[in-house]
Amino acid sequence: MKVQESLFLVAFFSFAYAQLVKGQHQPPEDCQTKCGNIKIEYPFGISSGCYYPGNESFSITCKEDRPHVLSDIEVTNFNHSGQLQVLLNRSSTCYDEQGNETMSDYRSLTLDNLSLSGNNKLTAVGCNAFALLATFGMQNYSTGCMSLCDSPPEANGECDGRGCCRTDVSLPLDSYEFQFGSRRFLHQTSFHHFSTCTYAFLVEDDKFNFSSSEDLKNLRNVMRFPVLLDWSIGNQTCEQVGSTSICGGNSTCFDSTTRTGYVCRCYEGFDGNPYLSPGCQDVNECTTSSTIYKHNCSDPNTCRNKVGGFYCKCQSGYRLDTTTMSCKRKEFGWPMILLGKLPS
Ligand SMILES: *[C@@H]1O[C@H](CO)[C@@H](O)[C@H](O)[C@H]1NC(C)=O
Ligand SMILES: *[C@@H]1O[C@H](CO)[C@@H](O)[C@H](O)[C@H]1NC(C)=O
Ligand SMILES: *[C@@H]1O[C@H](CO)[C@@H](O)[C@H](O)[C@H]1NC(C)=O
Ligand SMILES: *[C@@H]1O[C@H](CO)[C@@H](O)[C@H](O)[C@H]1NC(C)=O
Ligand SMILES: *[C@@H]1O[C@H](CO)[C@@H](O)[C@H](O)[C@H]1NC(C)=O
Ligand SMILES: *[C@@H]1O[C@H](CO)[C@@H](O)[C@H](O)[C@H]1NC(C)=O
Ligand SMILES: *[C@@H]1O[C@H](CO)[C@@H](O)[C@H](O)[C@H]1NC(C)=O
Ligand SMILES: *[C@@H]1O[C@H](CO)[C@@H](O)[C@H](O)[C@H]1NC(C)=O
Ligand SMILES: *[C@@H]1O[C@H](CO)[C@@H](O)[C@H](O)[C@H]1NC(C)=O
Ligand SMILES: *[C@@H]1O[C@H](CO)[C@@H](O)[C@H](O)[C@H]1NC(C)=O
Repeated sequence: MKVQESLFLVAFFSFAYAQLVKGQHQPPEDCQTKCGNIKIEYPFGISSGCYYPGNESFSITCKEDRPHVLSDIEVTNFNHSGQLQVLLNRSSTCYDEQGNETMSDYRSLTLDNLSLSGNNKLTAVGCNAFALLATFGMQNYSTGCMSLCDSPPEANGECDGRGCCRTDVSLPLDSYEFQFGSRRFLHQTSFHHFSTCTYAFLVEDDKFNFSSSEDLKNLRNVMRFPVLLDWSIGNQTCEQVGSTSICGGNSTCFDSTTRTGYVCRCYEGFDGNPYLSPGCQDVNECTTSSTIYKHNCSDPNTCRNKVGGFYCKCQSGYRLDTTTMSCKRKEFGWPMILLGKLPS
């Protein structure tokens, strides 16, 4: 009871404080910001008061130097623009030489206030196998795909329905529970020597390349795959929250495209954590080592930083050729010919 009361006070205080500073909540300076090698950035945080108040989805547990969300899903990447990369277990069903099922582990997970991003695929690996994904919410949804093969498919084929299949997932917004798994749909034993199990997993687009020689046997022993989850702040649009959004200076509020709530983004040419103040700062494109922001002047000595961007400065008598981003000597020939033509 005591603990609950003080937790309530902390939450209430953080909330009141957030209201004071124009919607801006600043986590205390002594918050732990790293878990192992991974930087944890607000609105995520490790202890109460360090994450966005009132939402357990932003609470991170640091276990054995690895960050976890919703207590047991490992996070591998945090991203300001409303996505988290996590690792989710695969599901598998295995068969013996008679074709009888020997083991099956269906996956069931609850994501609370996070949601499965549209940038993932449901994937199945196996011969004469199907994978199914079912979700539960206000609307129930299910999808699946099927993979056929009687003999080992061509070495290193695509994931195109022979030994491997995949399908898009576009779930209703309110899906809160997920189940996925796979099975063989024919009782067959001819391919036992090269495919003993069927596998189903969710994986971020382009993060799985099928190789029939390596994957049909045991999926290269990979147990977990990277999956993107979407998150957002609150359950209102930017218009509804107005100036009480928690977006800091030099940033803009965007309505989440996949869920209710909003996300904040730094202005173009700015970088930092848009949920903090000061958060987004001008990037010096001329000196940054970041490949995303780096200038493209062909001669780095001509690069000049400006707020929100950069330009390439050419010596007098030279002009910038914008296709090569290099300085070219100005030519005077054409204007003179044109002038010469004027009298006639
Ligand atoms: C998810 O958000 C709802 C409000 O939209 C809240 O009632 C619920 O407690 C939240 N769940 C978690 C785990 O944060
Ligand atoms: C965040 O993730 C999105 C989608 O994966 C990506 O387009 C964007 O570049 C990422 N942003 C940062 C700052 O990592
Ligand atoms: C994933 O599988 C491992 C064992 O391989 C298990 O310890 C862990 O709890 C599973 N995680 C989830 C979220 O189901
Ligand atoms: C295994 O498969 C064989 C032949 O398909 C069947 O006769 C037998 O009952 C099965 N055994 C078990 C334990 O299911
Ligand atoms: C969704 O599935 C659950 C569990 O099977 C069921 O209880 C619920 O009625 C279904 N909802 C709809 C809208 O069909
Ligand atoms: C898959 O193949 C593409 C093209 O060859 C490559 O760019 C990508 O890095 C590969 N992805 C993985 C996870 O190996
Ligand atoms: C928690 O955050 C989610 C978005 O990630 C949002 O939908 C939900 O309403 C929030 N819950 C509360 C109580 O703010
Ligand atoms: C939005 O979240 C607030 C708490 O932050 C909650 O009281 C309210 O019921 C939520 N509204 C909807 C439509 O989920
Ligand atoms: C906005 O960016 C400028 C340039 O980096 C910086 O001087 C200023 O402090 C930032 N404003 C806020 C409110 O963070
Ligand atoms: C150089 O960068 C600028 C700003 O990022 C961009 O608008 C322009 O298209 C780029 N030019 C070339 C030739 O890559």
